Amino acid sequence: MKKTIILSLSILICGMQSYAKQKELYPYQDARRTIDERVEDLLSRMTLHEKVMQITQLRAGNNDQPQNQLEAMKGIDPLMGSFIYSNSDCKVRNQVQEAALKTRLGIPALFGYDVIHGFRSIYSVPLGVGCSWNTELYQKACAIAAKEARMSGVEWTFAPMIDVSRDPRWGRIMECYGEDTYANSRFCVAAVKGFQGDTISNPHNVAACLKHFIGYGASEAGRDYVYTEISDQTLWDTYIPPYEAGVKAGAKTVMSAFNCMSGIATSANPYTLKEILRNQWGFNGLVVSDWASVKQLVDQRVALDRKEASFLAITNGVDMNMGDNCFPENLEPLVQEGKLDTYTIDNAVRKVLKLKFELGLFENPMTKDIPESKRFKHKEDLELIRQLAEESFVLLKNENQLLPLQKGKKVAVVGPLADDQDDLLGQWKGHGLAEDVVSVFQGMKKEFGAEHLIHAKGCDIEKADTSGFAEAIEAVKKSDIAVVVLGENRKWAGESASRSDIQLPVVQVQLLKAVKRTGKPVVLILSNGRPLALTNVESQADAILEIWQPGIEGGNACAHVLSGAVCPSGKLDVTFPRSVGQVPIYYNRRWPARNGGGWNGRYQDIPSTPLYEFGYGLSYTQFAASDIKTSTTTVKRGQPFKVEISITNTGKCNGKETVHWYIAARSSHIARPMKELKFFEKKEIQKGETITYQWTVDPLRDLGFVDKVGHKFLHPGEYTISACGKSIQVNVVD
Ligand code: NOJ
Repeated sequence: MKKTIILSLSILICGMQSYAKQKELYPYQDARRTIDERVEDLLSRMTLHEKVMQITQLRAGNNDQPQNQLEAMKGIDPLMGSFIYSNSDCKVRNQVQEAALKTRLGIPALFGYDVIHGFRSIYSVPLGVGCSWNTELYQKACAIAAKEARMSGVEWTFAPMIDVSRDPRWGRIMECYGEDTYANSRFCVAAVKGFQGDTISNPHNVAACLKHFIGYGASEAGRDYVYTEISDQTLWDTYIPPYEAGVKAGAKTVMSAFNCMSGIATSANPYTLKEILRNQWGFNGLVVSDWASVKQLVDQRVALDRKEASFLAITNGVDMNMGDNCFPENLEPLVQEGKLDTYTIDNAVRKVLKLKFELGLFENPMTKDIPESKRFKHKEDLELIRQLAEESFVLLKNENQLLPLQKGKKVAVVGPLADDQDDLLGQWKGHGLAEDVVSVFQGMKKEFGAEHLIHAKGCDIEKADTSGFAEAIEAVKKSDIAVVVLGENRKWAGESASRSDIQLPVVQVQLLKAVKRTGKPVVLILSNGRPLALTNVESQADAILEIWQPGIEGGNACAHVLSGAVCPSGKLDVTFPRSVGQVPIYYNRRWPARNGGGWNGRYQDIPSTPLYEFGYGLSYTQFAASDIKTSTTTVKRGQPFKVEISITNTGKCNGKETVHWYIAARSSHIARPMKELKFFEKKEIQKGETITYQWTVDPLRDLGFVDKVGHKFLHPGEYTISACGKSIQVNVVD
């Protein structure tokens, strides 16, 4: 009884204390109020200086991207709204946060980082992921990345990158999901859902950022940071849709780009940043500039100085200034001189505060210091990213069914990437460590047994030194089969990493040719961050497996595919040209003026067709497709209809098959692509089994097209729907 009274009294006292404490709270500190109320209250208490600092982002911690580094930061201003946080644990972050909380209004800082394909548990680069056509799996991988990041003190990722790219010379092609607009849209939605989950206040989720808005992927000649020329038509039909999809999926932030596009700088473009993003799509989140893209308005000669650059950026739609200090230097003077109204600044600050409230940073500003073993590389997570790698591999060639490798054979595993760990991480490796990576050779040892393998490196990735060839050839001669692992250094792709020549380095080709001359069957495994021109090596291998940069489980995944434990199911999300001279080359080009008799974009020296087409990829089993059925051949706007195709696994093993659904318009007043991917679906089919794939076609969405101001239209007339080499015609009537 006595105990109960004491307990009740203490609960009452606590309640009264917290009520009293509650009464002292400002409205913005009161979690029971709506986010909008809290934002407005906080905004009303902020000085101009505090506001300007709130929309500024600098770096804290170590930066692994040298091109993004400012000169060493001398002290961190606790009023700074946001930081790029480059450490893998939360210690420095929490110190910075403590300082922020001690400022007059105690506004927590926001920590962002480039979590592009994993935080520590690194998975395949996005260009590889696109070849998996498995958006569900990818969504889960992004959720793993988000969890690792948020537990380490990062609540905002600068991903996904959805810049459609058709130029393999451009290093950043590795960061997108290939050359197709629809594929980028679907993977974008998966990434946003994976990163953000149901709510970003969840301590395992992060805010996503759609980047780089817009047209950055059309970099001239594949060089980075340069001008892009995109017609209004192509902007709308090719580059914009992935962003629209990401905004609809609820992405919290967008990053403006570096490039000047069609004469206007994208970090100060009122048409794209204000008219399209805000007015047409109703995007209410935060727009952050890319690193120094405000200051670069001066370099691009669209602003006279940093002051004008700041004015142009903020008045044309950039809310937060990343990396170059332009806003803190210039916005206050601009207001004091009467050139900039505070309304514009308030609007930008609102976006930052809203995001912080949504992330729950005011209630939970600090990150719990959790040991690495609890944060990273959980067993089930590694299994998932291994599966993602397996599904992203593309079997490009398999003469005489050389793959899967027969058990019990002696295999020579040679080449500069055979036992390489670091390069399998790919660029933008976050906090991935080479020591975490299972190399191809390590994976094969586990799968086939070390006693069946002989390893010899043969040569380096690039150095013209053939002194290791003899050992490699000796190993091949002693074996039944050669597995040659070639490709790119991971630093050859990513930001500021363009290549004018997209072939394998000469020394690697020499090694492959020497191996081929032994007469042993050759399996070529390729790890690279872009499509390569493989014309001179294609004939030197009996089988070719493209593994991209598959992340830390890459070697295990590769061994599973080589042994046949996993049936390859990847299909290219990007075209492989015969030579760099064909670039840009992509599947959905528009009809040429002459398309018969070999006149279609003819070259005198090489065929005009690519070496490997978009959508290409072999399997260990065979799939046979039925004819396509449709629920109607007379289509009316506003009346969705169904098409279906049945696929039978006629081969010897179970496998996964992706059906790509394309459409083509018979004619249109705006020239349209020869075919356009509008839907895809991947399913597992057991051997002997038949599975039906269905697609519900929305006439306007799927058969329609967009004009140069973004207006969607649907012409009456004939349309072809195709999948797996089959097609049907439907007629759209008024
Ligand atoms: C520059 C890159 O273009 C962008 O993608 C990245 O998010 C920022 N740097 C921050 O690292």
